Amino acid sequence: MASGIFNKNLLLIVSGGIAAYKSVYLLRELTKLGASIQVVGTANSLNFIGKSTWEALSGKTPLFDSFETFDSSKITHITLAQDVDAVIVAPATANIIAKAACGIADDLASTILSAATAPVLFAPAMNTAMFENPANLENIERLKKRANVYFADPESGCLACGTSGKGRMAEPEEIIFKLEEIFYPVKHSGVKWLVTGGATREYLDPVRFVTNGSSGKTGFAVSEAALKSGGDVTFVAVNAEPKFNPGYSVIKTVTAAETAEVVEKNVKDADIFVMSAAIADYSPEKSAQKIKKGENFVTAEFFMTKDILAESVNWTKPGAVRIGFAAETENLEENARKKLVKKNLDFVVANQVSSEFNPFGADTNTVKIVFADRVEEFKNIEKSQLADIIVKNALNLCGVKCNGRKNER
Ligand code: CTP
Repeated sequence: MASGIFNKNLLLIVSGGIAAYKSVYLLRELTKLGASIQVVGTANSLNFIGKSTWEALSGKTPLFDSFETFDSSKITHITLAQDVDAVIVAPATANIIAKAACGIADDLASTILSAATAPVLFAPAMNTAMFENPANLENIERLKKRANVYFADPESGCLACGTSGKGRMAEPEEIIFKLEEIFYPVKHSGVKWLVTGGATREYLDPVRFVTNGSSGKTGFAVSEAALKSGGDVTFVAVNAEPKFNPGYSVIKTVTAAETAEVVEKNVKDADIFVMSAAIADYSPEKSAQKIKKGENFVTAEFFMTKDILAESVNWTKPGAVRIGFAAETENLEENARKKLVKKNLDFVVANQVSSEFNPFGADTNTVKIVFADRVEEFKNIEKSQLADIIVKNALNLCGVKCNGRKNER
C-alpha cells in the first residue's frame, strides 16, 4: 500500500508538545513501511519523550543539539537538512511554526528547517486558542506559500488541556497519507495535463512575422513538474524547442490559429489545462509573396484571433481545471482578476512587466497568483519553483473539483 514511503530517508522533527506520544507511533509505522528515519528533537521535546524511545524505534541516535556531531566529516544541520527525501515536523508547536515562518534558526531543529530544500510536512498540535491565534494562523499561511511546505491539518476533538476544539495533531495514518501525497507519483498518475508554452508567429508574408518575447520556459517547467507528479502530459510547443526526450508528448505549432486548432482537439480529455503560451491577439492577412520595399510606409490590417483560453471552457470536460497567465504593465491584480472572471478560470498567474523587469526569457519571476478567494505573491522565485507551486495548486483544485476521483489510492 505504501510504495511511496519505501526506502525513503526521512527526518522526524519532534517539538515540545504532548502529541509527541503520537509521533512515537508515527515513527514505528514509518519504519514498518520501509523508511529510514533520523529523529531530531527540540530541548523541550525531552520533557515528553526520552531519547531511548526514539533510539530504540529508529535504530539511530536521536539528535537534540546543534553542536552534537553525528559524523565529524559533515556539518550536522546541513547534512541532515539536505540528505533527506522529506522532513516531518510532528508535533509542530506554535513556536517551531513561528520560527520556520520567520527563518529563525536558534537550535538544531529550527536550523535544519532553515536549510531544508526537501518537502517539509508540518503536523501542528496545540490548544485551540493557540492554534487560532492570528499570529499562528498568519505564520501557517506564510509557510503554506512556500513550494516545499505541506501541512497535515490538525483535527477537532478533545485536547490534553481538557478543552475541546481544533488543535489535535492529525493521526499518524493521516500524516503518512499526506507524506504519500508528497511523494506523488503514485497518487496523481492518470491526471491528464495539456500545457502550452512559447509565443505565436503571425506572418505578414512568407518571411516576416509578428511575435513577442515569451520563451516558453514556464510552460516547460510546468510540464516537467506535472510529469514529476505522475501526470500524463502533452505540451503544445508554440515555436519553442523542448529538450531531447522530455518524457512528455510534444505537439509543435506556429500560429495562433494552428494553436487554437491543436488545443481544441487535445484539451477534451485534459483534467488540467495550463495556457502559458503568449498568443497574438491580432493576426495580419498574410501576403502570398514577400512584401517588396517601395513606399515610405506600409500599412497592414490585423484581425482578432480566437481567444483560446476563453473558448476552452466549451472544449474541456466538466470539472477540468483551467489556468491562465497574464502579463501586465499596469494594474496587475485588477487586470488578472478580470481575466479570471471573464475567462472563467481557476487561477491566473500574473506577471508584472516593467522597464526594470521583463519576465520573458528570465529564469526567475515575480508573480501574483490570483484565485477567486485570495491572492498569493511570490517574489524572485525560480521558474521551476513557480512550476511546482502551479502544479501543487492545480492538483489540489483537481482533487476538489473531481470529487476526489483522482486522489484515490
Ligand atoms: N490567451 C489565449 N488566446 C488569445 C489571447 C490570450 O488563449 N488569443 C490566453 C493567454 O495564453 C493567457 C491569457 O489568455 O493565458 C491572458 O492573455 P493576455 O495576453 O494577458 O490577455 P488578453 O486576454 O489577450 O488581454 P490583453 O492582451 O488585452 O491584456
